[in-house]
Amino acid sequence: MKIEGFRDLQRLAHGFQMAKVFFTANDLDLFTHLGQGRNAGELAYTLGLDARALGLLLNALVALGVLEKDGDLYRNGATAAEFLVAGENYRGSIFKHVHHCWESWSALPQAIRDGAPELAREKDLLSGTEEQWTRDFIRGMDDVTRDLAPQVAAQLDLSGARRLIDVGGGPGTYAAAFLEAFPGLQEVVLFDLPGALKVGQEKLQARGLQDRVRLVCGDFYQNDLGEGFDAVWISQVFHSQTEEGCRLLIDKAWRALNPGGRVLVHEFLLDDTKTSPMTAALFAVHMLVMTEGGRSYSGSEISGWMTEKGFERPEVCSVSQDTAVVLGRKPC
Ligand SMILES: C[S@@+](CC[C@H](N)C(=O)[O-])C[C@H]1O[C@@H](n2cnc3c(N)ncnc32)[C@H](O)[C@@H]1O
Repeated sequence: MKIEGFRDLQRLAHGFQMAKVFFTANDLDLFTHLGQGRNAGELAYTLGLDARALGLLLNALVALGVLEKDGDLYRNGATAAEFLVAGENYRGSIFKHVHHCWESWSALPQAIRDGAPELAREKDLLSGTEEQWTRDFIRGMDDVTRDLAPQVAAQLDLSGARRLIDVGGGPGTYAAAFLEAFPGLQEVVLFDLPGALKVGQEKLQARGLQDRVRLVCGDFYQNDLGEGFDAVWISQVFHSQTEEGCRLLIDKAWRALNPGGRVLVHEFLLDDTKTSPMTAALFAVHMLVMTEGGRSYSGSEISGWMTEKGFERPEVCSVSQDTAVVLGRKPC
């Protein structure tokens, strides 16, 4: 991103206000409640909110381009109508999830001072102690990967694989995309913690794939992944682990794979400067405040750990605008 002048600094600094206005509207499900168009008083009455305050929020949402206003009637803009209204196409869970992380981000100065966050909230998101958070988190993963997973699958060659395990596969979106792209797959295992698997089950049922994916409830710190797999897919899991945790996962993948099998690690990868791309550099800070020791990694770091383990000539392949796969083959 380029900063050229004081105005750009102001825009950067005020970004949090835009985000908070949007998160608040999304948490209140205003986009669903707006229906074909409502005025602030009516909507406030329905939802038990303050009409004046809601009017200010709605006006700001119009200014941000999310809503449209006609006289005193507010209605969804095209993008809000497409993605933020309850129904099959709804993708607001990801933003509820990001909003759950707000408190941890507020503690960023403390994390920078002490080197670790007091509110490492990712474990609460995953442990099931905050059930709604877990649901929003894992449904949110489906929101962001629904379009991406088929595109990623189309760029990989898993045509020889018969058994694949999706480690930390959450909503099963990649498992579904692989089944679609590679008809030779005879078994796909979705391995995850119990709260995530509940959402995985719900999503796979909605796709009619509940009989084609085996759900295995486990914790990769405590449990092995099983054995006899031709491919181990680990997507967006490394960043929440320490380097030691990443090496442990590579070791577990090695043990789970048949000779000639492949491990595929999908991430927001940093380049070797660790400052680019911006998504990965910001994600590293997100992991600083949310986890105990996670960060974004570079392709050369992950390839290096794979090589140390014995994987042959790991390759880094860009598979989307923001993500890449590091692929290593276990020798035959
Ligand atoms: C960021 S999500 C990624 C979900 C999916 N792989 C994707 O790319 O969209 C991380 C996933 O790792 C799972 N996970 C985290 N720690 C785990 C552990 N110790 N054992 C098993 N799964 C874990 C989470 O439950 C979650 O589903």
